[in-house]
Amino acid sequence: MTVHFKQNEPDNSNRLDGMKQGVLGKPLPRIEGLAKVTGTAPYAAEYPIDDCAEGVLVTATITRGEVTSIDRTSVLSMPGVIAVVDDEKLCTRAAQGTANEAPMQGPGQVCYWGQPIALVVAESFEQARDAAKHLSVEYREDEGAPVDPDAVEPEEQEDETVHQGDLAHAMAEAAHSVDVTYTTKGHASAAMEPHAAIAEWDGDKLTVHASLQMLNYNISELADALDIEEENIRLISRFVGGGFGSKLGISEEVVAAALAAKQVGRPVRVVQSRQQVFQTVMRRSETTQRLRLAADSDGTLTGFGHEALVSNLPGETFAEPVLQSSHFMYGGENRELMLNVARIHRMTAGSVRAPGEAVGMPALEGAMDVLAEKAGIDPVELRLRNIPEKNPEEGLPFSSHKLAECLKQGAEAFGWDRASRKPRQRREGEWWIGTGMAGAARVHNISEAKARVTLKADGTALVETDMTDIGTGTYTILAQIAGEMLGLDTEQVLVELGDTRHPRGPGSGGSWGAASIGSAVYIACKAIREELAAKIGASEEELDLREGKTASGEALTDLLEGKDLAREGHYEPGDIEDDYTASGFGAFFAEVRVNHYTGETRVDRMLGAFGFGRVLNAKTARSQCIGGITWSIGVALTEALEFDPRDGHLVNCDLAEYHVPVHRDVPDLEIVLVEERDGAASPIQAKGIGELGMCGGAAAIANAIYNACGARLYDYPMTPDRVLAAMPD
Ligand code: MOS
Repeated sequence: MTVHFKQNEPDNSNRLDGMKQGVLGKPLPRIEGLAKVTGTAPYAAEYPIDDCAEGVLVTATITRGEVTSIDRTSVLSMPGVIAVVDDEKLCTRAAQGTANEAPMQGPGQVCYWGQPIALVVAESFEQARDAAKHLSVEYREDEGAPVDPDAVEPEEQEDETVHQGDLAHAMAEAAHSVDVTYTTKGHASAAMEPHAAIAEWDGDKLTVHASLQMLNYNISELADALDIEEENIRLISRFVGGGFGSKLGISEEVVAAALAAKQVGRPVRVVQSRQQVFQTVMRRSETTQRLRLAADSDGTLTGFGHEALVSNLPGETFAEPVLQSSHFMYGGENRELMLNVARIHRMTAGSVRAPGEAVGMPALEGAMDVLAEKAGIDPVELRLRNIPEKNPEEGLPFSSHKLAECLKQGAEAFGWDRASRKPRQRREGEWWIGTGMAGAARVHNISEAKARVTLKADGTALVETDMTDIGTGTYTILAQIAGEMLGLDTEQVLVELGDTRHPRGPGSGGSWGAASIGSAVYIACKAIREELAAKIGASEEELDLREGKTASGEALTDLLEGKDLAREGHYEPGDIEDDYTASGFGAFFAEVRVNHYTGETRVDRMLGAFGFGRVLNAKTARSQCIGGITWSIGVALTEALEFDPRDGHLVNCDLAEYHVPVHRDVPDLEIVLVEERDGAASPIQAKGIGELGMCGGAAAIANAIYNACGARLYDYPMTPDRVLAAMPD
């Protein structure tokens, strides 16, 4: 039985606070933690499948053009080689799961260097890899494909454009104004688990073990790519070793494994190499961002301008949504916002953790620091003065808004010193030491979700959904929600995820996972509670459940009378989305040291304070914040995709050359969880925290670099060479 709930009104009843079990919000360790650290949690490539052949992708070595021939005989006689798969279905847009309406390329068309074009299948991985290297491919290359975003005429994304009032006039009249241009480099998701799939056919039934974030969409994408019915596909993704956007859609290893398994009549495994993941899956676009801020003498913004240039392949609909939170972060009635896309032939640009704010906020929050200095106002105070009462463009109220609390609580916990904003005041030997701060915002997303909850006759519960846990803690929070609602310890709740045989969840992406699927579980549990309440002649609201018993001591097992009680919760976001601007907010504080002679920056201390609705598990939420801030350090100091200017291929395509922060780069991070309940965000009053932790943090570091050594930089990442070049004499 399905219970459908569409949320059209805020729910401020905070029902979950009145429950008696007391497990929700607790910092419980991950349910699957032991399985993961002991190596018994199976990831996509690790399923023991009999008679499994190994496939290795072959990728294009031209930037734009056409594959004219693939000489299969060049490898078919090599040891162990079983087949070459060059089915045209392998190289369609659908095979990349980017879900564009119109495929931009026909069979054999190449639109970026590194695009998968074929698969070689062999008995062993080594044999397949060797043969893949020797496969002879001929191309017709279109010369002159543009690969430099600054060298083409960009397209304006008109639905992003805002012209309100007269910004130029506001700038001219302003007591203080800032007009600066920031750049950010491309980023890679760099998930630890490479993309992998094992496909197996049983007649026309296909089962694929894969590493994916959104099975509910991925099953449609795969059906589309293979031109078969969804009903014939089962996708399994029980454990995912990080996704960060790179596994939102299917990519070629999934399609290639399915095509190959069909062709050779055996299961086939395809694991992308680290280099292939970097070069073929998805990049975050580089950006160029002009920020204009006009303020009156007390720092109140009168004008706000944010224009950005990003890039993607021709025909792709995704454009890094750089301005997303700029639309409502700060006031200023004269506004000018614009997003432009350069069409170039680098690999596909797509979602990488916190698409938009991950790079938009570091630019905005850097510019705010410049304004604070010009206006002689403390940066925390400047932000407090410019928090708008409602969305400054659409006039909508905020569903809830914790920026001020985050700024204040963060400043207090960090020991922010309002007195010492002058740069170059503290030096220890070769090192300049300074502090900086930045605000954070990440829009709240929510999505339709279904989950089935079964209260078993034995008094345990089962939660089933195709929702994924990409390392975020989904297993654990769902056990906590069901446990809280049904009066059970989390050990009594079994959570089954990542299988399309279960009700369709929302997938993990855009920080919507917890609030969306948590609401579906909540709805299902509420329906079960109604049944239980009826059995004892009470109302659902009156029902107090704890440790498997009602308040009057009746055991759930007795109430169930030997029968399971199952309900499917179906949550759907309603009109409420149009009534409020909903966002998570936060503040970052950083202390850095900068070497006077080498320009090296070390982050000595960093703190983030975040308000994102109800905290479902204080430990997994904190871990998400720590992960986000760690990414902030990467954005600020080290991470940058480098493309060859001749053919647009990604040069630094491994973890030795693409520098994610390592343990030594990350100090102890302090997290302040600013509790709130957002009844308009979701029925469980929760928002998301998967991405907020990296939405602006890089600016706290950039601003601290300036405060430490006086080097004001506008280009991320702030590598030693750049810092040294900007260092005052
Ligand atoms: Mo996210 S970048 O929507 O996984």
